[in-house]
Amino acid sequence: MKFGIIVGSHRAKSQSAKVAGYAQNVLKMIDSSASFYTLDLFKDPLPLWDDGIWNGAPEWKKRWDPISAELRACEALVVISPEYHGMVPAALKNFFLLAGKDEIGHKPGLIVAVSSGRGGGYPVAELRMSSYKNSRLNWIPDHMIVRDAEHVLNGVASASEDDTFTRSRLDYCLSVLHQYGIALKLVRESGVIDHKNHPNGL
Ligand SMILES: Cc1cc2nc3c(=O)[nH]c(=O)nc-3n(C[C@H](O)[C@H](O)[C@H](O)COP(=O)(O)O)c2cc1C
Repeated sequence: MKFGIIVGSHRAKSQSAKVAGYAQNVLKMIDSSASFYTLDLFKDPLPLWDDGIWNGAPEWKKRWDPISAELRACEALVVISPEYHGMVPAALKNFFLLAGKDEIGHKPGLIVAVSSGRGGGYPVAELRMSSYKNSRLNWIPDHMIVRDAEHVLNGVASASEDDTFTRSRLDYCLSVLHQYGIALKLVRESGVIDHKNHPNGL
């Protein structure tokens, strides 16, 4: 299975990127034939959405088409969002303006929120409420919050009880995501999806 991993941080050495690396290693253990497309929005920043993307502007085609092709090939997504002032970072909100039903529709998504403290609830609530309507990304029921991020998921062995909990919970969520990846392929291939007559969600 091909997994897309979206890293929503605006920081060069982000905890979110660290979590992405951990998730990729676990997914490789869950599915030995897994392949990955990782989009780190700090390393590969996207321009803010503008009309050009809908009007076929050449600069947008050049920028977005390769990303679109990668996303179309993915069967499940891990979306990693740091909590910034109780919000999803702007780069990730912008990603959800750009990525639509052709790229991520009816594919399972795992939300992984990241906080250096005890936060992380707000990005989960925000993503569950606002990112999927037109894209039809299918957030799976379980999500993950990586708290005290600097002190967990470092190296191979767990460093504390909290680290053990974080690893166990994230491993579990990734296993569930993998199974939704298998299951939702059937939905996409069923013939029931009709984006022509129902282009947008309500
Ligand atoms: C602009 C900004 C705002 C932040 N606001 C919050 C917040 O509201 N709640 C929280 O738990 N952490 C907050 N943090 C700290 C992040 O949790 C911390 O940077 C963590 O490492 C995740 O972000 P990263 O992936 O960019 O490293 C904030 C960080 C930045 C840069």
